[in-house]
This record gives sequence, C-alpha cells and structure tokens, in this order.
Amino acid sequence: MIRPIIVANWKMHKTIPEAVEFAKQLKKEFSEPGDVDIVIAPPFTALRPVADVLRDSPLHLSAQNMHWEEKGAYTGEVSATILVDAGCEFVIIGHSERRTLFGETDGMLNKKIHSALKSGLRPIFCIGETLEERESGITFRIIQKQIKEGLNNIISDDIRRIALAYEPIWAIGTGKTATPLQAQEVHRFIRKTIATDLEHAHASETVIIYGGSVNPENTGSLMNQPDINGALVGGASLDFESFADIIKISET
Ligand code: PGA
Repeated sequence: MIRPIIVANWKMHKTIPEAVEFAKQLKKEFSEPGDVDIVIAPPFTALRPVADVLRDSPLHLSAQNMHWEEKGAYTGEVSATILVDAGCEFVIIGHSERRTLFGETDGMLNKKIHSALKSGLRPIFCIGETLEERESGITFRIIQKQIKEGLNNIISDDIRRIALAYEPIWAIGTGKTATPLQAQEVHRFIRKTIATDLEHAHASETVIIYGGSVNPENTGSLMNQPDINGALVGGASLDFESFADIIKISET
C-alpha cells in the first residue's frame, strides 16, 4: 500500500506572516500523523519561518525549485544544501512553469534531481504534456521521454525516494481537470515506464501524484484511481479550508 502525498504548491503567493499563519492552522488541524503525508511548498523567503512552525509536527516542507550546483557564482539561485539548511525535506523539480517560462530542459532537471538526492532531499519530479501534444496523440511519447531523460542514471534505491507528479499542462490553473480515467491511464503508463525503461523493480511502490486544477470536488474521484497516489495542488491550496478538505477527502 503506497502512502499518498498531498502537496500544496503556493507558487509566488503568500508573504512570511501569511505563510506562517497558514502553517500554524495546518499544524493545529493535522497534529497527529494521518493516512497521507502533507507537504507544503511556500516561496523561498517563507521556508525557514514555516519550518520553525512545522517542527515537531507530522507535516513536511518542500521548496519549489533549486539549482543543481552545490555552491558558487549563481546569482539568484539556491542549492539543495541551502534548502536542507532551511528545513526542507522535499523539492519540486521541473514544474511546467519552470519548463515553459524559464526554459528548463530534461537534461537540467536530471542534474537537479541528482543534486537533490545527494543532499538528502526527496524530489517531486513533474512531467506532463501540452494540449497540442495531447491532441496530436503523442502524450505517451512525451511522458516517456521526460521520464527517461529526467531520471537518467538514477539508481534504483534513489528512485524509491522520488515522487512523480503528472501534471497535464492544459489542466494547470485552467479549471480543466483531466478526467479520473484520463489521469489513471497516464499514471499507469508512468508506472509501466519506470518498471520497463528504467528497469526499476519496485515501480509498484513509486508514488505518482496528480496535479492540475485539483479541488475538494474532484479529489475523491481522482484518489479512487488505483495508480493515483496523491495530489499536487496549486490554486486550491492557497485557501486553508479547501486545502484541509482535500487532505481529509484523501484520507478517507
Ligand atoms: P493548479 O496548479 O492546482 O492551480 O492547477 C497545480 C500546479 O501547478 O502544481
């Protein structure tokens, strides 16, 4: 049985006081370990203050991005070591906004994943097709390429520490969710690709979460699918009630 993960990706939202307040509410509401792992990914500036709130709670902290080098002259970047120092356990890598707006390629993402794992962070590796790719019938080819290149040369023991996030780009922030069956079809394909192309013996244990307009209304039907092991939530994670509802629905 895979332990599901529910991730709040706050993107470029929330000041430090707002992030701290949300984290305090979350800690109060989910003070005991439940059936899912809860992860919040605030902006960089709020990482340390939120880590201080989450200490001694079952909740986990994630960053939204990182650079692959350990240190050096990379103005504006942060490394995996810096994120661990700030209290992170997870890091989101390859979000489609990083790929499309900031030109991140699967080769760059592969370096980030290696670096994150080396520092002890658990990567949440995002993959997904555009609307054009879906309509051209090449979704599986795109997904397979992203997995093979992004996870190139990652040893089996490390694959166990990676969560994959399937986020169809056409469903992010658009209010258009993939239907549970559309999502399940791709999640199953991802699991198969991990087993066959990466020759990973434990693909049945790989955490594969869905993202793209997840909300309290569609969480239940998505989580009911056999290969969907959680959610990466953007817009609906900014509001405490709706994020708490998504967690509660995922626990049932
Ligand atoms: P959304 O974003 O829930 O607002 O669609 C998801 C994401 O980008 O991770």
